[in-house]
Amino acid sequence: MIIDKALIEPFARTTERAAYGASLFKSKGDKVGADQSAVDEMRMQLNKINMKGKIVIGEGELDEAPMLYIGEEVGNKSGDEFDIAVDPLEGTNFTAKNLPNALSVLAVTRKGNLLHAPDTYMEKIAIGPGLPENLIDLDFSVEKNIKLLSDAKNISPDKLSACVLERPRHDRIVDSLNSMGVKINFISDGDVLGAIAVANPKSNIDIYLGTGGGPEGVLAAAALSCLGGQMQTRLVFQDDDEKNRAKKIGITELNMKYNMNDMVKGDVIFCATGVTDGDLVNGIKDLGDYFEAETFVLHKSSNINKIIKNKIKK
Ligand code: FBP
Repeated sequence: MIIDKALIEPFARTTERAAYGASLFKSKGDKVGADQSAVDEMRMQLNKINMKGKIVIGEGELDEAPMLYIGEEVGNKSGDEFDIAVDPLEGTNFTAKNLPNALSVLAVTRKGNLLHAPDTYMEKIAIGPGLPENLIDLDFSVEKNIKLLSDAKNISPDKLSACVLERPRHDRIVDSLNSMGVKINFISDGDVLGAIAVANPKSNIDIYLGTGGGPEGVLAAAALSCLGGQMQTRLVFQDDDEKNRAKKIGITELNMKYNMNDMVKGDVIFCATGVTDGDLVNGIKDLGDYFEAETFVLHKSSNINKIIKNKIKK
């Protein structure tokens, strides 16, 4: 069943308000304050929407997050049932330091159609649309995936660009990419945008590789499912506590490799509003009594893929 197009506007309003909340903390060096402000605004807005919504990816579990925790019910308790993944502020460092690409992000599906991912790390690999199905695989070596991708695109590996989160844990991936001459776009944070970049013709990114947050992985998958991209992921657990937390939210097969369909099913609304100016959208502009927000909006069933600009009363 599709999600009514009429819901795009209230959901976009949600990330707009959250981005505004975070923007009040731009360049103040306060990551926690920025995140909290985004959470407060987002929660208030979500609770105005005609729906029975449930947060399936949020700020953490109830014991660690009093608001927008996994399992929290949101909406005005009328209307249809939805599963909602939120990252009220993706790029807390970017906001604290007033760097580009901080976003407020949300994805919505019908109930039962989104993976309930715990707040652990996740291995990820993603490529853009128009490529043979199941071309790449998390279990292949970097070299093999690059070879398959360059063959499918009919260009040599040195003409490919990869996006990688700059972390010591990615040294081996980086060495492999370098050995094949693949260009690397390093990002310091923000791998929702990093992964979505594979489907953004303006970005020239051919493949996203590496380990980042699990929640961010599912949000990126939701966007890529609208954009026709491919993504595979696997949760990474650092200790038994993380494994137990995953089991508690219903993950039975801890080593499972997730394909797009395992993470996102059916119709999707995806919204990402800029907090700071960035590659996808501009950040919040203060206009006195109003603020201006730019939001990247996707709606799978109606093929909506656009950027909307709104002037909103503070
Ligand atoms: P926050 O906005 O919550 O700080 O997350 C930013 C981020 O860069 C994500 O985009 C990414 O998935 C994750 O952190 C990577 O985690 P780590 O910094 O621990 O490598």
